[in-house]
Amino acid sequence: MEHICKITGMNSSQQKKWPLFHSLLTGNLVRNEIELSSDKLSEEIMQFCSLQETTDEIQERKEAIINHLKKRFNRKFSGSKLTAFGSSESGLGLKNGDIDLCLEFKGEKPKKVLTKIARMLREDGMEDVTLIAHAKVPIVKFIDSRTKIPIDISINNSLAIYNTSLLKLYNDCDVRVRPFVLSIKNWALHRGICNAAYGTFSSYAWTMIALQFLQSCNPPILPNIQHGENRILKEVEGTTYDLTMNDNPNELLKLENKSNIGQLIIDFFDQFSKEWPWDENVISLRSGKMISRKEKNWEEKKPKLIDALIDENKLRLGKHSLPVEDPFDHLHDLSRVLRTEGVMDIREEFLRAYNVLCDGGSWSELTKTKFPELVNDSPQTDLFEDLRDIPKQDLIDKLE
Ligand code: UTP
Ligand code: MG
Repeated sequence: MEHICKITGMNSSQQKKWPLFHSLLTGNLVRNEIELSSDKLSEEIMQFCSLQETTDEIQERKEAIINHLKKRFNRKFSGSKLTAFGSSESGLGLKNGDIDLCLEFKGEKPKKVLTKIARMLREDGMEDVTLIAHAKVPIVKFIDSRTKIPIDISINNSLAIYNTSLLKLYNDCDVRVRPFVLSIKNWALHRGICNAAYGTFSSYAWTMIALQFLQSCNPPILPNIQHGENRILKEVEGTTYDLTMNDNPNELLKLENKSNIGQLIIDFFDQFSKEWPWDENVISLRSGKMISRKEKNWEEKKPKLIDALIDENKLRLGKHSLPVEDPFDHLHDLSRVLRTEGVMDIREEFLRAYNVLCDGGSWSELTKTKFPELVNDSPQTDLFEDLRDIPKQDLIDKLE
C-alpha cells in the first residue's frame, strides 16, 4: 500500500524523489556545518573556468556564422539589423553556450518573419530548425551544421540587448563575477534545473540570482549599476523603460570584499539551504538587494508548492513561486515558467549541494551530471572532427 506522509501529504514515490526536501518539511533534516577549505574548491573552480574560455577557432567560427546570417538577412529583409546578445556578448557564458541573435525589422509581423527565416535556414542545411511561435518571445532555434553550435534568433527583442549590456557591466566590475556566475550556471545546468522549457529557471534567471548574491554579500562585491540621479527613459517596442546604467559603478562600493571564489560558493549554498530567500522576498537586481514580496505586491498565489504537488488534478503552480524580477521589465517575473516538479527539484538540489559541501565534496561531485541528455557537452571544438573517419574521396566530394 502506498505510504502517504501525514505531515506533508506526499506519497512514497514523491518522498523518494525529493528526500532531503521532504525531511526538511517534516523537521527531520540532519544539518552538519560546512567545514571545507575554500582554497581547494577555489582551485577546482578556477580550473573549470579556464576550460570555459572559447578557443580562437570557435570564436572565429561564431563571427563567421553571424556575418553569413547578416548578409542573408540583409538581402531578404531589407533595412533589418542583426545583433548578438546573451551570454556570448556579456562574457557570462559557458563554453558550450548558445548564440543569441536579435533581428530588428519593422516590415512584417514577427511570426511571419520567423517562419521565413526557418524556411531559409532549412534550405541552407542547418540542423534541427524549430520555430517556437507561442513563447513570450517567439524564436527560431537551430544548430549550425558544421560546429554544432546552437543558435536562437528572435525578432525585435531589443530589451534583451540592453539587459545584455547591463550584465556585461556587472561582469566588468570584478574578476570574481565570471567564475561565480559560471559556477552557478554550470551547477544548475548539470543538476537539471536550468531549463525554462522543462519548468525550471532559465540560464538568465540563474544569472540574476547569482548577481544578486554578489550585491548582497558583506561587504558587497557588486554595486547596483542601475542606481543614479539622472534617469534615462527610453521607449522600446512601444513601452517606456528606465534604462539607467551607472558609468562608474565601482565608485558606488566603499569596502573591499576579500573572499575567494570557493568561499563565495560555500556562502551561497549555505545561505540558500538555511534561509530560503523566497519565503518573504523577491530577487531584484535593480534594487541592489532583495525586496519584500509585500512591497512588490508579488505574494505567492495558490496553489502553493506542496498543495499543487499532492493535488490529484495536477494543478498548475500558482504565480510568483520563486519571484525574480527582470531588471528592466519590472512586470516580468522570471519564475513564471516554473512548474511544480521544477521547484521541487530546485529545493532538493540546494539541499543536496549543501550536503555535498558538508561532506568535503569536490566541485565535480557538486556538479555531477544528472540528465546527460539535457547537457550539450559536445559542440565541435575541433571543426574537422566529423570529417576524419570519412574515406578520402568522399571527403573531397564533401568539401567541394
Ligand atoms: P539565455 O537563456 O540563452 O541566457 O537567454 P544566456 O544568458 O545567454 O545564457 P546561456 O549561456 O546561453 O545559457 C539569452 C538572453 O535572452 C535574454 C537575456 O538577454 C539573456 O541573456 N532573456 C532571456 C531575457 O531578456 N528574458 C528572459 O526571460 C530570458
Ligand atoms: Mg544564450
